[in-house]
Amino acid sequence: MSHILVTGGTGYIGSHTCLQMLLSGFEISIIDSYVNSSTKVLDSLIKLGKEYNKDFLEKINFFKGDIRDELLLDSIFKKSRINSKPISSVIHFAGFKAVGESFNYPLKYWQNNLNGSISLFKVMNQNNCRNIIFSSSATVYCQTNSFPVSEEGIVAASNPYGQTKLAIEKLLRDLTNSDERWRIIALRYFNPVGAHPSGTIGEDPVGIPNNLFPIICQVASGRIDRLKVFGKNWPTKDGTCLRDYIHVMDLAEAHKASIELLFDNTQDNFLVLNIGNGIGISVLEAINKFQEINKCNISYSFVERRNGDLPIIIADNKKALSLLNWKPNRDLNQMCSDAWNWQKKNPNGY
Ligand code: NAD
Ligand code: UFG
Repeated sequence: MSHILVTGGTGYIGSHTCLQMLLSGFEISIIDSYVNSSTKVLDSLIKLGKEYNKDFLEKINFFKGDIRDELLLDSIFKKSRINSKPISSVIHFAGFKAVGESFNYPLKYWQNNLNGSISLFKVMNQNNCRNIIFSSSATVYCQTNSFPVSEEGIVAASNPYGQTKLAIEKLLRDLTNSDERWRIIALRYFNPVGAHPSGTIGEDPVGIPNNLFPIICQVASGRIDRLKVFGKNWPTKDGTCLRDYIHVMDLAEAHKASIELLFDNTQDNFLVLNIGNGIGISVLEAINKFQEINKCNISYSFVERRNGDLPIIIADNKKALSLLNWKPNRDLNQMCSDAWNWQKKNPNGY
């Protein structure tokens, strides 16, 4: 088992992936600036380790800092050793992710996401570490595709956030073209939801959430009055948008499988994989299932369509299913119960 650097490892997807990597026997160094995460995440991970009878303290090195700080990054690559092992690969989560905010603050997004990635890849190269899993997004697919969309679908992101993801994917492809020692997998996540079933780690959005599941949870807990459903006349089965929700633990497992694939010399140097369930769930279906599974009431009303929404976004996940030793195992019931369990146990987040 090897030692992995996880950028953004205390964030939502990062924390669940760190847990999965640790449980699978990997050692991890984490760099996170805490710009969008809690300082309590690490304690929660250590606590969870104890529940699995594991001492994670011996397996984690944590560095508080920004990935644009190349001196810090360089010193991490040069000095961070766990059980004498140097960092052999990177899982790169660190970045900003709010689509709406990216329209208002494009510089903030380009600076953090692109400059951060450039610094990271530069320092990796200097330190002879050229294995990386990158967090990309289904938001790179444009409206003209038919869904489920495969990795060959047309990419043209409709928002600055998605543009930064596409630019980073292009940069990664250029790196593999320039030096065949790079081994890269870009994972295009669809809609990650849910939490670890213990409710010890989960999604903790700062301020008023933008995404459907955190909003449903906060309506259920009484923090938000009602859910505004964006549009009721979309060309779908019940008039509300279809999304491909994927349990965050399934997503975490996809990272572990991707790291294993990186070390398998038969793969292409540069791979793009859709990570979704391949099932479209409407907003109304999500609300109804949440109410049924958690025996609670979600007040909602219909409002105008949200700018930039697409009616249908569903993954064709065949490539991931065939190349990774992975498949999603958790259904919508589990997503709803785990999301609510986290919310109930942590009504104010961490
Ligand atoms: P998150 O905000 O919870 O986690 C990102 C982490 O990165 C945070 O802990 C934040 O503090 C840290 N960070 C940000 N910029 C940094 C920097 N310059 N230096 C060091 N740390 C920094 O987000 P998430 O939902 O866990 O998403 C992780 C990745 O997956 C992001 O790159 C995001 O764009 C991508 N993604 C997320 C979704 C989603 O719906 N959550 C969907 C598709 C892709
Ligand atoms: N929705 C509502 N009301 C709300 C919030 C959302 O009706 O208050 C609807 C949206 O219209 C959409 C669905 O719920 O139909 C899901 O919306 P989210 O905001 O949860 O997710 P998006 O599909 O818009 O986007 C998410 C992430 C992006 C990522 C994308 C990948 O926010 O970062 O998934 O598919 F790129």
